[in-house]
Amino acid sequence: MLGRLAAALFLAATGVAAQNTTSKHDYVIVGSGPGGAPLAANLARAGHTVILLEAGDDQANNPNISIINNFNPAASDESTRWDFWAKHSEDPERELKYEHMVWRKTDGSFYIGLKPPAGATQLGIWYPRAGTLGGCAMHNAGVCALPADDDWNIIVNKTGDKSWAAENMRKYFVKMEKNQYLPAGTPGHGFDGWVATTIGDTSWTNGTNDFKAMGEQIVKVTGGDPAKLPELAAKDMNALNPNRDQDTGVFSLASHADKQGLRSGTNTYLKATLADAAKYPLTIQLDSLVTKVLFNNDAKNPTAIGVELLRGKSQYSADPRYKADAKGTVQQVFANKEVIIAGGAFNSPQILKLSGIGPADELKKFNIPLVKDLPGVGENLADNYEGYVLGLAARPLQGGGAPPVSVMLRTPSAPTKDRNIYSWCTSFSFEGFWPGFPHNYGPAQYECAFVHMRPKSQAGYVRLRSANPRDTPDVNNRFFEHGADQDLTEMADAVKTLRQAFASAPAGIGPFDELHPCPGKNQNCSDADIKERLKLQAHSHHPTSTCAIGAADDRMAVLDSKFRVHGVKNLRVVDASVFPIVPGAFPVCPTMMLAEKASEDILTGA
Ligand SMILES: Cc1cc2nc3c(=O)[nH]c(=O)nc-3n(C[C@H](O)[C@H](O)[C@H](O)COP(=O)(O)OP(=O)(O)OC[C@H]3O[C@@H](n4cnc5c(N)ncnc54)[C@H](O)[C@@H]3O)c2cc1C
Ligand SMILES: *[C@@H]1O[C@H](CO)[C@@H](O)[C@H](O)[C@H]1NC(C)=O
Ligand SMILES: *[C@@H]1O[C@H](CO)[C@@H](O)[C@H](O)[C@H]1NC(C)=O
Ligand SMILES: *[C@@H]1O[C@H](CO)[C@@H](O)[C@H](O)[C@H]1NC(C)=O
Ligand SMILES: *[C@@H]1O[C@H](CO)[C@@H](O)[C@H](O)[C@H]1NC(C)=O
Ligand SMILES: *[C@@H]1O[C@H](CO)[C@@H](O)[C@H](O)[C@H]1NC(C)=O
Repeated sequence: MLGRLAAALFLAATGVAAQNTTSKHDYVIVGSGPGGAPLAANLARAGHTVILLEAGDDQANNPNISIINNFNPAASDESTRWDFWAKHSEDPERELKYEHMVWRKTDGSFYIGLKPPAGATQLGIWYPRAGTLGGCAMHNAGVCALPADDDWNIIVNKTGDKSWAAENMRKYFVKMEKNQYLPAGTPGHGFDGWVATTIGDTSWTNGTNDFKAMGEQIVKVTGGDPAKLPELAAKDMNALNPNRDQDTGVFSLASHADKQGLRSGTNTYLKATLADAAKYPLTIQLDSLVTKVLFNNDAKNPTAIGVELLRGKSQYSADPRYKADAKGTVQQVFANKEVIIAGGAFNSPQILKLSGIGPADELKKFNIPLVKDLPGVGENLADNYEGYVLGLAARPLQGGGAPPVSVMLRTPSAPTKDRNIYSWCTSFSFEGFWPGFPHNYGPAQYECAFVHMRPKSQAGYVRLRSANPRDTPDVNNRFFEHGADQDLTEMADAVKTLRQAFASAPAGIGPFDELHPCPGKNQNCSDADIKERLKLQAHSHHPTSTCAIGAADDRMAVLDSKFRVHGVKNLRVVDASVFPIVPGAFPVCPTMMLAEKASEDILTGA
């Protein structure tokens, strides 16, 4: 009751003066993304008092954020945007070859490109995140795709915990999903959960238009019958099909949005929980940057008892509105039961390190007292590599537009029996991220963007730059450190397959003038050229694995299979940082699924 009242007050009060108060709840949850939000709602619905601490505020009424098709402006919107300036490698020369390197000009504005003006400061590769109620699920592209079964099963192998088996994980998807595109009762799907899923309208596959003509080429080059485009464009990506992970060709693209095109999931589930007549004991406190976990005084048995935070607007320097001299008020919040960190793959390791949990050497460098030496915190950073084929048709594409189709490939170079590339194609341009992206090449643009699954290299890291919790950490993806040729061959094979669809476009639409990766109309670049470009220009936005689950005797493991930090009591991490490997092509729905699993584990005392 009290919790609910407080939540209502905090939600209503934008920019209230911060107070230095303390409070106590059963569970203290840090971060309201796909990890933290469902967990907070589920624990409160089970009757526990929960406080959810979120660094950002609530932008659910901002149409950039609420309408899923506004995801491009959303990512650049200052009201939610967190800017991380990442590196792709340790080689400064290679970094300078990245076409969308971001620089700060002397007048304070950004320069993006290879030839910065005199005096500009190199910032890095823009890695957008959302600091807002609902996390990155409030500005992402919303693609909801289940990972391969083996991406779950590998956790069983690593930990011996059979509850991670794919067939068990499916039940969390069924529980959370509110499917709006299939007949009720379709096996493997849910119809009354908290995250709506929809697919795009497929009426464009009827009649004659350029999108249909391109769709048919894509069906053809992936081995299908072009006449089946209408049914393939509606084919369920997340079907309960024993051969799903080997199934290739054209599918629909499912997103976590409702039929009206409004985002669904994290923010909406929290709001529904607060609004419920059952008056669940959930408190949401916004504008609260958690700076560290607090422990009891027993150094031999460290036990989390609460967190300390800075209360105020834009406290984190990733926030473009950040002001160093506008420091918020310090507040402490205590937990009767547990503290659960869900700050995402960059912030969860930062919070653990600031709290004394991480590689001992790194903490020593910043004079942070050691609570638990865990060398894997912030290491093991993994990410899907992304590339694309982008071209300009011979004429503006006619037919009024079409939502993207999904295209699953298993390239000849694939290392397992499973498909290894998730592509999506329509008239758009997506060449990576920079403030204000993407570039609009006009109505003739057509792209197949793709995500590579199962990267062989997980050598990236998130390390502290300072002991100041308001500073962003040093993020380096260290792409292609291991298995580079294998991954680049898979990606180059994807380019070659997708490009055939462009090359076989009917006259009038074709010939395409390819912009990337092989400029021009004659497509004469070699495999080596394609790989070199992919290596230098690959981008990504699905960071995971910086607080990975693993066995107790695995030095780099951070969590046990029940999300508990090794060697620390009453402290868990529940977000995309816990995956030992990147889950499939898109992490958002897998992260929601693991939040459902964590809820069950916690509620059943696991
Ligand atoms: C532009 C973009 C597009 C994307 N598109 C897709 C897509 O189409 N499909 C897909 O599957 N995935 C997509 N992703 C990735 C997906 O959104 C993330 O994998 C997912 O949101 C991760 O969830 P999380 O809970 O781990 O972290 P986050 O979503 O990052 O949530 C973490 C939350 O914690 C808060 N927080 C962090 N630190 C603190 C602190 N110290 N104190 C208090 N609060 C804190 C943050 O403000 C944030 O709200 C996209 C990501 C981006 C950036
Ligand atoms: C939406 O975001 C863009 C930046 O991408 C910004 O210019 C615009 O003002 C935002 N719109 C609203 C309604 O906040
Ligand atoms: C798990 O281990 C078994 C036995 O070693 C192996 O056959 C299987 O391929 C492994 N599965 C995954 C997903 O790694
Ligand atoms: C295509 O048109 C037919 C006839 O009007 C209609 O029955 C069908 O539902 C349409 N298909 C799609 C995918 O819109
Ligand atoms: C707020 O409370 C914390 C914890 O009790 C204390 O460390 C801090 O100094 C206080 N800050 C202010 C501004 O009073
Ligand atoms: C290959 O393409 C490039 C870029 O369009 C062009 O400059 C070059 O002349 C072409 N070479 C051949 C052999 O066609």
